[in-house]
Amino acid sequence: EKAGYKHFMLKEIYEQPKGISDTISGKLSLIKGEAELPFDFNKIQIVACGTSYHAGLIGKFFIETLSKIPVSVDYASEFRYRDPLIDSNTVVVAISQSGETADTLAAVRLAKLKGAKVIAICNVIGSTLTREADYTIYTYAGPEISVASTKAFTTQLTALFLTALEIGVIKGTVTKEEEQKYIDELIKIPSKMEDFLETEKKEKRIRQLALEFYMAKDALFLGRFVNYPIALEGALKLKEISYIHAEGYPAGEMKHGPIALIDEKMPVIVIAPKDRVYEKMVSNIEEVKARKGRVIAVTNAGCGEIRRLTDRIIEIPETDELLTPFLTVVPLQLFAYYIADFLGYDVDQPRNLAKSVTVE
Ligand code: F6R
Repeated sequence: EKAGYKHFMLKEIYEQPKGISDTISGKLSLIKGEAELPFDFNKIQIVACGTSYHAGLIGKFFIETLSKIPVSVDYASEFRYRDPLIDSNTVVVAISQSGETADTLAAVRLAKLKGAKVIAICNVIGSTLTREADYTIYTYAGPEISVASTKAFTTQLTALFLTALEIGVIKGTVTKEEEQKYIDELIKIPSKMEDFLETEKKEKRIRQLALEFYMAKDALFLGRFVNYPIALEGALKLKEISYIHAEGYPAGEMKHGPIALIDEKMPVIVIAPKDRVYEKMVSNIEEVKARKGRVIAVTNAGCGEIRRLTDRIIEIPETDELLTPFLTVVPLQLFAYYIADFLGYDVDQPRNLAKSVTVE
């Protein structure tokens, strides 16, 4: 059932191109069929937990960029215990792989009490979340067995991106031509990811880096803009399966504290594709190098500035800057996977964790 892979997590990482393609097909056929989301609203509130929350943070960039509607993103467990300012003009988007996460369900119930409409983004047909939501957008990742979420995440990004585009078209902030251009870029993501994954199978670049770093005690992940949430996700993956303490940070905040942690032992994973904040990320790498930190950079081919600073480079294919998280997250998933495997841990069943958190 692991189809020749050593663990479900690795199999599921390699299933991402298919999950994304299937989610695109599912959503596009819906858009063509039913035309549009059935609600009128002027504010969006995203609620989720864990990895799904990280997808939500990126969803905020998608929705605000494409549809100009303000988006707040909360951990479901925080949202439900404050007095959220939502009403019938708010759409709450609840993101959950399982559709059974207790805090996410409680957040949805609170939102409905306050008169908000609820859209679920969910991977499990007929789950509690989909039954309670007003409208469901399914992700087609297929069953995710590994406790650490991978393919659910990238299919959630897919659903969020297509939803953002759809709202943009309805609101008139995205033209039909722009929509087509974005869809064309999105459609290329699965084959770009496939190329990357196949290259890794042959060259074992990330596996090699994991071999170099698996004895680390801590790790710092830095990103900006749409890749700040990917820094959070890279750190979460590493801590949950390898039990190495890791932090994800917005790179611009480094000088406000975390830079004090950097010494010659500290691995710093820097996410720096060619985008609007690339130059800023190069400066961050210089700062880390000046303190003798050990930098791994996730970047595109070319990017000579980074190559001059570190030879630990992971090259990802190029895409539109908004879509870079689809490709930057994959090496971080693999990095965490190989480290946990080298350490001999039960990758698919990490200690203290359950696949779906049905307790509050
Ligand atoms: C991390 C992970 C968890 C889940 C979280 C939410 O790899 O798997 O952080 O993302 O428990 O689960 P769902 O999406 O099922 O609500």
